[in-house]
Amino acid sequence: MDIKKLVSEMTLEEKAGMCSGADFWHLKEVKRLGIPGVMVSDGPHGLRKQDTEGDHLGINDSIKAVCFPAGCATASSFDRELIKNMGEVIGDECQAEDVSVVLGPAVNIKRSPLCGRNFEYLSEDPFLAGEMATSYINGVQSRKVGVSIKHFALNNQEHERMSGSSEADERTIREIYLAPFENAVRNASPWTVMCSYNRVNGEFASENEWLLTKVLRDEWGFGGYVVSDWGAVNDRVKGVAAGLDLEMPSSGGDNDRLIVEAVKNGTLSEKKLDETVERILNIVFEYVENKKGGEFDRKLDHERSAHIAEECMVLLKNDGNILPLAPGEKVAFIGGFAAKPRFQGGGSSHINCYTISDILTETKDNANITYAEGFPADRDETDENKFAEAIDAARKADKVVIFAGLPDSFESEGYDRQHMRLPECQNRLIGEIAAVNENVVVVLHNGSPVEMSWIDNVKGVIDAYLGGEGVGIALKRILYGEVNPSGHLAETFPLRLEDTPCYIDFPGKGGKVYYSERVFVGYRYYEARQMDVLFPFGHGLSYTTFKIDNLRIERSGIRDTDKVTVSVDVTNTGAVKGKEVVQLYVSDKTGTQLRPVKELKGFAKVELEPGETKSVAMQLDYRSFAYYSVELGDWFAPGGKYEILVGDSSANICVSEEIDIEATKRLPFKVDETTTFGEMFIYPELAAFINDNLLKDNVLFGNSEEEQTDAAAEAISDDMSKAMMNYMPLRALRSFGNMTNEQLQGIIGTLNNILEREEK
Ligand code: BGC
Repeated sequence: MDIKKLVSEMTLEEKAGMCSGADFWHLKEVKRLGIPGVMVSDGPHGLRKQDTEGDHLGINDSIKAVCFPAGCATASSFDRELIKNMGEVIGDECQAEDVSVVLGPAVNIKRSPLCGRNFEYLSEDPFLAGEMATSYINGVQSRKVGVSIKHFALNNQEHERMSGSSEADERTIREIYLAPFENAVRNASPWTVMCSYNRVNGEFASENEWLLTKVLRDEWGFGGYVVSDWGAVNDRVKGVAAGLDLEMPSSGGDNDRLIVEAVKNGTLSEKKLDETVERILNIVFEYVENKKGGEFDRKLDHERSAHIAEECMVLLKNDGNILPLAPGEKVAFIGGFAAKPRFQGGGSSHINCYTISDILTETKDNANITYAEGFPADRDETDENKFAEAIDAARKADKVVIFAGLPDSFESEGYDRQHMRLPECQNRLIGEIAAVNENVVVVLHNGSPVEMSWIDNVKGVIDAYLGGEGVGIALKRILYGEVNPSGHLAETFPLRLEDTPCYIDFPGKGGKVYYSERVFVGYRYYEARQMDVLFPFGHGLSYTTFKIDNLRIERSGIRDTDKVTVSVDVTNTGAVKGKEVVQLYVSDKTGTQLRPVKELKGFAKVELEPGETKSVAMQLDYRSFAYYSVELGDWFAPGGKYEILVGDSSANICVSEEIDIEATKRLPFKVDETTTFGEMFIYPELAAFINDNLLKDNVLFGNSEEEQTDAAAEAISDDMSKAMMNYMPLRALRSFGNMTNEQLQGIIGTLNNILEREEK
């Protein structure tokens, strides 16, 4: 299809009409030109296709579909291939149901554990979130169905999500919050991007030219269309000019009319409108021309969903190898979540499941299992009779497994969590059961971290997260050792809410939320402050043990533009087959800029038979070493030493080694009267000149060393004067160094000449 020609045949009204939906889920058709009205649907972890009454909060029914594990779970798999496969299956389902774009993945960074929508989001770490999103997109789009990566950008809370402004500095925005989008746009070319509801530094994302055009298209090369989050449009004409292509849902024609008016009165150029329509139609026809149809095999996809779930669950604690359970052990299952597992979150991602598996049904043939509800799954309610029954069952059993978690109302799209605790009834019963049986395992169904006041009194904890409709099958396989758990945390579990990086600045007041912790989000913060956490980022146990050793860095020194391969050997040192998640972190030792202690820059999941060793290779590139320099307006990797660290969690580094990076870029730097000696000392060539010509006689602190009296030396030692010198501006030479203005200007000129020579 020649899209440009098609656009040239459209009337102004038809073009404006193309820029908003026909209804809740369809784009408009233009019959006379053969433009069909294609459908889009939520997303992200399965299809929420509403055939009849549409809504964006998951209130009305949608077709029966398959619910895969939510983002909080899938990110914990650390398995790119698995997530790609899940994307392929969802893409096939879209083809079967004639859906052109699935609304996901959702890659907003988990800034606070309280964000109501964390269950849908992937990680606190931008590299992990970006890699998982890229794999998902490559999977879906391989089926010629588009994605809508969302919510662009800085939508990290639900409080005032449609009106509030996320206030952050550019370095933080780029390094933490935009990075997952950038990774996906550069490596997976998503067909569409969904802009968020909120404002970014005062400007609505839906009319933010810097975000939607300068960064997204001009810098990253995005070629698809930008769609508004449902109802995110504020000023429609401004939005078109800024790069917002499609408004969803329909605005009843009102905003289309404003676009027509704006073109007619010259406030919006028709060329801009044409480009907008072209971008939308490119994607519409990409789908239409590759439509394959097919079957939606719900039964098969249910089993696939269970398989994905078992690869995601995280074994957080397993003292004395309390798990796996043996089929012959007398086990008491306790907690409402055993019969009614929570496996997805509330809101627009809510799927009408074809079927749901639960652990009780999955284990019904095992006569050694008893069940007592103890507490309900959907509310915080203590029933003393049910408590007594549960405690009695626990007393009689060899082991107890408590199925706990967050009720739906505790976390959802649309509002944030009030606290980080489980319901009181659950905390109390877990404590009381641990007092009568020392072999307690807790299985959690949650979309984000919870405090665990009882952690020292239980031997095992599994985080099933929100495992999708196959959760019961997956849990049975993991609890009974048919599958070895291999998930690792994609987020830190803090000890207390008060410990979290943005505790003070979340969710903000008066329409603004300040991202004052800057790049120190998640483990970047806890590590910088050397704080204890409940479970660190990247943590996850297995029924076997692993050894990571023999770190090899391809070369000990590289230019920043070179790629470098880092390899380690991983050995299964236990008795059963298992999967290890190898994590590579980079630590900047150059001291040039304030940076996190270390940052995740590579990972791999590897399966090993008992006794088997495999070599795992991961590649680092420029961005693995760089931070975003606002002065340079670009990514910058300072020259000097970096440490490469490899382990199986952020807190368990097994091997490390240094590498030397030679920088090919320089930060813009010019010397003037206010430049300090410290700033100049960073540049070896300036340091050499200053030492040889200006500091020989210790001009700033009195006489030269030979002439110094004992009293003077006692007042200011050599070390002290050197330290003070760092903060002296060059003009101090005039005040304390007997230098004339003319001499000072001469020296500034010489220093700048030296810098220019080096730059060439
Ligand atoms: C959500 C989006 C969703 C859209 C359509 C909005 O409320 O923020 O994530 O895709 O509704 O349901």
